[in-house]
Amino acid sequence: MGKSFDIGLEMLAGRGVGVGVTLNETQDPPSKIGCGASEERPARLRDSSGGAIGAGTFYLETFGCQMNEHDSEKVAGVLLARGYRQVESAESASVILYNTCSIREKAAQKVFSRLGEYRSTQEDGQIIGVLGCVAQQEGEKIFSRAPWVSLVCGSASYRKLPQLLSQLEAGNRRVTGLETGTDETFETEVTRRDNPWRAYLTIIEGCDKACSYCVVPFTRGPERSRTSASILEEVRQLADAGYTELQLLGQTVNSYTDPSARRMRFSELLVAVAEVPGIRRVRFTTSHPRDFGKDIVDAIETVPAICEHVHLPVQSGSTRVLRAMARTYAREEYLEKVALLRAAKREISLTTDLIVGFPGETEKDFEETLSLLDLAQYDGAFCFKYSPRPNTPSLKMDDAIPEEEKSRRLAVLMDKQREIQRTRNERLIGQSFEVMVEGKSKKEHQWSGHTSSNKVMNFTSREQESLGDYVHVKVAAATPNSLVGEAVGRTEG
Ligand code: 5AD
Ligand code: SF4
Repeated sequence: MGKSFDIGLEMLAGRGVGVGVTLNETQDPPSKIGCGASEERPARLRDSSGGAIGAGTFYLETFGCQMNEHDSEKVAGVLLARGYRQVESAESASVILYNTCSIREKAAQKVFSRLGEYRSTQEDGQIIGVLGCVAQQEGEKIFSRAPWVSLVCGSASYRKLPQLLSQLEAGNRRVTGLETGTDETFETEVTRRDNPWRAYLTIIEGCDKACSYCVVPFTRGPERSRTSASILEEVRQLADAGYTELQLLGQTVNSYTDPSARRMRFSELLVAVAEVPGIRRVRFTTSHPRDFGKDIVDAIETVPAICEHVHLPVQSGSTRVLRAMARTYAREEYLEKVALLRAAKREISLTTDLIVGFPGETEKDFEETLSLLDLAQYDGAFCFKYSPRPNTPSLKMDDAIPEEEKSRRLAVLMDKQREIQRTRNERLIGQSFEVMVEGKSKKEHQWSGHTSSNKVMNFTSREQESLGDYVHVKVAAATPNSLVGEAVGRTEG
């Protein structure tokens, strides 16, 4: 496997994961999809260091969000089905693919510096492809900036990938897939999943919300939902294959609209997925506050397999800034949604995304964001400095906040949130939670996993735990970002 299993949950655009205060500008670690070995093929080409380049092999590196991670799993499935073999290093691959993120400027820059490392590859006959949001955003300009690239394809055109690959195999030098006005989703016959217990499942692609700072509507195109029947069919297949935790994905997952005559609501879909035999945990991300209603809270309250965690990005605590961001809700309306969650009989953990330094954000606006933290009592928050992006309405807004001021506000926000998390996690000392065993530490008897509320739990167990099992763990200590405990029993599947 190319990556560890501590990938946690959050979230859908350009960042890392887990419940925690996170400075995302430095985070976004690239992760690779592991090697899906099939039959050996003779080496045909040579790389510059003299190593062998395997014909019909591909290397796929993913930047950014879980949606990208999952798209990469599907891309890998498409390539494997065409007889390609996945390899662990770019040097030994005949096709190198980068699935990219452009949510903030730093993420996009990283892609170009990585591409620069492969300037000489073409001489060796390697094919370089750029997929994802930078591909969609920059389009054919990528060919002039990095002439050694042969394939540029945005996520809304992935259905065309097999066709594009055929053109490359036939000797075409440059191919593109850049349409976004599609009503199709990227469903594949074969998806190469990267984790044997937790599967991602896209239920809605694209975004119709048009927040003024965000590139996603441009890079991923309009909202397209899959039919409830095709989602449930895939869930049954995943359960049969042994997956116990499912994560339903969408930029605005709760805006799901069943295109079939069945017209299943999102909350009904959650229940239907959770009822499939074998499925023990259902997660979903990311929810948009406008489409978040009591029916979703009711579903979590009544169905134990639906995880007690909601990621509900607020972005700002100031109604004035929310309006400028075109978020479609005011501070008070957001807080009403929080009240719905807090009124549930089951304790539901709540996480969010926040942006500081949006154009025109005054000190008073920022203080409103700080006071919202006190009211909402988040279990985790991903905090970002505003980053102006191409093709977004906010690019043209005046009143830029100086970089140092953005950094100051970010630090103040994160310090405050860290203390809220410390207090919230310390309340849990003495309680027991079910944890999926996801990792083994190098230290003897030490394991890690997540609770249903998506808290990271590091725990001690004298038993030989099996990864993917569920155990009960009693919390003994807490930090702002994780719990520490001891196994006290296990639950049978
Ligand atoms: N600048 C900073 N943060 C952004 N996000 C989206 N676009 C931008 C931007 N231009 C953040 C939002 C979103 C998360 C995925 O990334 O908080 O919820
Ligand atoms: Fe971007 Fe807003 Fe859509 Fe989220 S809801 S993906 S922030 S436009």
